[in-house]
Amino acid sequence: MKYRFMIWPLVLLCLLLLGGCVGQTVKETPMDSNVLIVGFAQLGSESGWRVGNSRDVVRAAEDAGIQMMFRNADQKQENQIKAIRSFIAYQVDVIAFAPIVEDGWDNVLQEARDAGIPVLLTDRYINIADESLFAGFIGSDFLEEGRAAARFLLQKISASSTVRIVEITGTEGSTPMKQRSIGFRDILGDDARFEIVMSVSGDFLRSKGKECMENILKTTTNIDVLYSHNDAMTLGAIEAIEAANLKPGIDIIIITIDGEQGAIDLLKEGKINCVVECTPMIGDMIMELAKQLADGIEIPRISHPYEQVFSEFDEDLSRIPLRGY
Ligand code: AHR
Repeated sequence: MKYRFMIWPLVLLCLLLLGGCVGQTVKETPMDSNVLIVGFAQLGSESGWRVGNSRDVVRAAEDAGIQMMFRNADQKQENQIKAIRSFIAYQVDVIAFAPIVEDGWDNVLQEARDAGIPVLLTDRYINIADESLFAGFIGSDFLEEGRAAARFLLQKISASSTVRIVEITGTEGSTPMKQRSIGFRDILGDDARFEIVMSVSGDFLRSKGKECMENILKTTTNIDVLYSHNDAMTLGAIEAIEAANLKPGIDIIIITIDGEQGAIDLLKEGKINCVVECTPMIGDMIMELAKQLADGIEIPRISHPYEQVFSEFDEDLSRIPLRGY
């Protein structure tokens, strides 16, 4: 552990100056220089998934006896960078963050390296020239999620006629947006039946998912499938589909990713056909890896949590445990 008390007044000043731009602090406990301190820069609160992830990270830190400086960047990369700089100023033991997009982290991670602080990527990956600037990644296998979504579609569609697919993607430039698109196309491959007629970004937001679907339905109602990159956008899109007097799950096959309780409930009601799980409950894994890093132990480059697929083909949907997000 480092001697943080000597720089505490300076850090307080930094945090005060940055406070207006770094976003809300979910949890701030008084810092104790004898315990492990992790700075966690969350990207925002765009979805139920994200809120559940923040809650789980804070809970896991408490359970592990780790003190956490938690910053929420309110969907702005510049705020995440400021948060990471404040962690460096404070000399936390480990920095963890969920990068909103893949590009633009070179300078700040070099600063963390220069300060001797190990960095753990959580949830999303980054694109960086020197990959040694972060110690490892813990989060979902987004490529596999996209593949699982497409595999469901192959199982569902037996017809030989053209299947018109609309895709609502997540935040441009983010790992889940890129990988879920690639994985989906990987599996559908050269099968001429499947045509992605439109692909638009809903930024992982319910309001934008609704808006995207409303706009799409103004141009055509000739849609067989909605592939949506997260539940928040799906729930918004379903509102738009129902407002257009179409039946989600019947007139339009709905495939979504995350596994929020709201989506599972709609799967049970038949309004969603397939939910590919992306679990936000990775707090314990993050804390375990952070402890190892603080002890100077090399961690795996990539760690993925266990995830499942829930669909109308499951024998008993009532067996799905309450989701907690
Ligand atoms: O990075 C994970 C994605 O981000 C989740 O699918 C989504 O709900 C969240 O906003």
